[in-house]
Amino acid sequence: MLLLPLLLLAHLIPGADNKVVHKNAFQGPTSFHVIQISSFVNSTYAQNQGSGWLEDLQIHGWDSDSGTAIFLKPWSKGNFSDAELTEVVEAFRVYFIEFTPVVQDRVSEFELTYPFEIQAIGGCEMHSGETTVSFWRAALGGVNLMNFQNDSCVPAAEGGSRGQRFCAILSEYQGISNIVQKLLSNTCPRFLLGVLNAGKAELQRQVKPKAWLSSGPPPLPGHLLLVCHVSGFYPKPVQVMWMKDEQEHPGTHQGDMLPNADETWYLQVTLDVVAGEEANLNCRVKHSSLGSQDIVLHWGHLTSAMVITLAIILPTFILLICLTLWYLRRRSYQNIQ
Ligand SMILES: *[C@@H]1O[C@H](CO)[C@@H](O)[C@H](O)[C@H]1NC(C)=O
Repeated sequence: MLLLPLLLLAHLIPGADNKVVHKNAFQGPTSFHVIQISSFVNSTYAQNQGSGWLEDLQIHGWDSDSGTAIFLKPWSKGNFSDAELTEVVEAFRVYFIEFTPVVQDRVSEFELTYPFEIQAIGGCEMHSGETTVSFWRAALGGVNLMNFQNDSCVPAAEGGSRGQRFCAILSEYQGISNIVQKLLSNTCPRFLLGVLNAGKAELQRQVKPKAWLSSGPPPLPGHLLLVCHVSGFYPKPVQVMWMKDEQEHPGTHQGDMLPNADETWYLQVTLDVVAGEEANLNCRVKHSSLGSQDIVLHWGHLTSAMVITLAIILPTFILLICLTLWYLRRRSYQNIQ
């Protein structure tokens, strides 16, 4: 019966953005969501994982053995009282306990075969001003089943008849539906505001990127792969472009945004060019921590390491030649005497 409360928690990342838009570059995250991943291994064994996120930053874990929440940050409790937190955690605990048999009982109805996974994501997002929008989605093995909109279950087209049946089952659990509604439309927005405020110092920090260039394996004979590495920045939005003179080079290819262990980000942006056409290319990095001082790295035969080497070797070499000449002249002078 308690299927809904947790379902509500589950859905997929809101606006998971690989895009480099400076949406909230200065305010930090604006949404909170809970993810549920339930792995049904065989008819007797299933495992539930739960986690809480501020966009791509995980702030809660779930210990499924003891049925308790794990607060990963000193500020992960937001401004909720212990009593209120206990109530919410209890709703999730019961939900996880109830969820498994509810699904196991419907394996044949849904024509499921072990092993399979159910994923759900639910939460809320702050839009301009004080409005918050809640969301809740569920998927089976990565295929969307349903999307909760305006208090009603909308089957996902790609889920086919399974999505319709899923919504039909949800409608049988009206009590749970109400709990979920409350969690989504009341609890979540209040929690979001509190936790954003409690974690402000960390969420709104600005960490400058470091950038460097290298060459990668050439994609084709006679080509070069120029690689611009940008690492250690926070927050996530960043703009990295290969530029020819002042224009962005159309062959720029952006890799995936990867997390560093210290909760900063790493990005690699490559450019495939025909050998000989790498003149006047530079990699430009824009990030909120840099203000208007973009990082610009020029591709060229004189990398900064080479410049330093030359700066040391060349004077040394000249000095050696001068000393040698001076010594030879002195010797010939002595010989004459
Ligand atoms: C179900 O999976 C668990 C974990 O892999 C295993 O220990 C157990 O023996 C399996 N049971 C059946 C009936 O296959």
